[in-house]
Amino acid sequence: MDRTPALDAHFETLRAHAARLRDTPIKRLVADDASRANDFVLRVGPLYAHFARQRYDRAALDALFALGEAADFAGAMRALVDGEHVNPTEGRAALHTALRSHLSQAPAAVAAHDEATAALARMRHLIESLQDTPVTDVVSIGIGGSDLGPRLVVDALKPPSPGRFRVHFLSNVDGAAAQRVLAGLDPKRTAAILVSKTFGTQETLLNGEIVREWLGHDTHLLAVTSNLARAAAWGIPEERTLPMWDWVGGRYSLWSAVGLPIALALGMPAFEQLLAGAAEMDAHVLQAPLRENLGAWHALTALWNRNALGFASQGVFTYDERLKLLPAHLQQLVMESLGKSVHLDGTPVTESTVPVWWGGAGTDVQHSFFQALHQGTDIVPGDFVGVVLPDHPHRESHRALFANLLAQTEAFANGQGSDDPHRSYAGNRPSTLFLVDSLTPRAMGALVALYEHSVYLQSRAWGINAFDQFGVELGKQLASGLLPALRGQAADIADPVTRALLDEILRDDR
Ligand code: F6P
Repeated sequence: MDRTPALDAHFETLRAHAARLRDTPIKRLVADDASRANDFVLRVGPLYAHFARQRYDRAALDALFALGEAADFAGAMRALVDGEHVNPTEGRAALHTALRSHLSQAPAAVAAHDEATAALARMRHLIESLQDTPVTDVVSIGIGGSDLGPRLVVDALKPPSPGRFRVHFLSNVDGAAAQRVLAGLDPKRTAAILVSKTFGTQETLLNGEIVREWLGHDTHLLAVTSNLARAAAWGIPEERTLPMWDWVGGRYSLWSAVGLPIALALGMPAFEQLLAGAAEMDAHVLQAPLRENLGAWHALTALWNRNALGFASQGVFTYDERLKLLPAHLQQLVMESLGKSVHLDGTPVTESTVPVWWGGAGTDVQHSFFQALHQGTDIVPGDFVGVVLPDHPHRESHRALFANLLAQTEAFANGQGSDDPHRSYAGNRPSTLFLVDSLTPRAMGALVALYEHSVYLQSRAWGINAFDQFGVELGKQLASGLLPALRGQAADIADPVTRALLDEILRDDR
């Protein structure tokens, strides 16, 4: 399970290939290999992925796949779906695959799958009973993994005119967020769900208090949590609470009852299709040979860009308005999972780990930061995502969107020389292009699950834990220590800068 020192040699080999290819731009790689444009491609169900514009050739790819073998990607996937303790720092499994797939006979996986199936049945029942009430709007209160995944899926797949329920999301502890979400809603027709694995998250509990007071009753307050006792103590009884489990990480949890807002907004059949799409991807990444394995190929490409080429940032550009929240979800998924500096055994990592993930929706981003991506000094590899069939009748707009998508990936790769240095494009900016046939729940499930598996496989090559997040704790502790001072109560503030800032914030002449 620990990363073996033998992997170091593989990373060195990758760097030797990168040095060999230093003067061979993408344009040349494509020109010199007649079948590359058709070979560096994988299709899995509704997803088509094109890797021909990455800065590797076949020999470098061989070295990458050798790293995948040496890191035992296949064994790692088996360990994941069997419910082994792939999160050893917290002594837990990470069984998000059991929420949507039945790929393992291991007792832990079977038990998890059974619990997930029972929770789905309760979820269906709860939705049905809410349908018999005057409720038209549901506020989902949660943050991080208890917010970003459901928010993405609802925003991406919501029908043009709302169904039985309109779903709203409230995450930030800033009271302005609550103010804005509640404005225009009617407390008599609104339900709220507190989504919190721990039921101890400050933001969610404070927003919950605001919404409870605004509702004026708590009959339409629901919870999704692994801590039934805390939810009950807060005032939501077990019959209105759906379960979460310690074997699902927050950022991997949209497939559980955390996805209740999705099922409310899109209907239970769509939620089931989402799970089916993810299950298809699970089976693929678990079973496909390494070279035909999209999870492995995506993970190895990320390792190549980070560790062989040294790029410190990775973009994700969605050429589809409906996917505009994908970068936000991936930021948490990738950076909370892979933002680590020690191996599983606590020794310092020997390779750089996660780059900064960021992005936005095309074509908007072309008119903001793409200048820097084309002509800036730093190279940002991009994952571009387009959806071939639109869900609207504006054909010419869709053609223009795709013209821009193809143009940008071509410009990234090929650049354009000019006698005028200001008008010259160096090109050689790597990208992967995903084409989704149509943005169905199934395709959405497959896309998100693909990234989950890529993240996990990267973590195995680096020998780090993709499932803990101790880095977020210090800020939380400090914030709760500072609250009394902000209430004007006596507090022991040791840091002189924080003390000076508090003095400024609490000045009473404002
Ligand atoms: O940001 C830290 C974190 O623990 C995330 O991993 C998690 O998704 C989020 O907070 C919310 O936690 P909870 O679901 O327990 O409220």
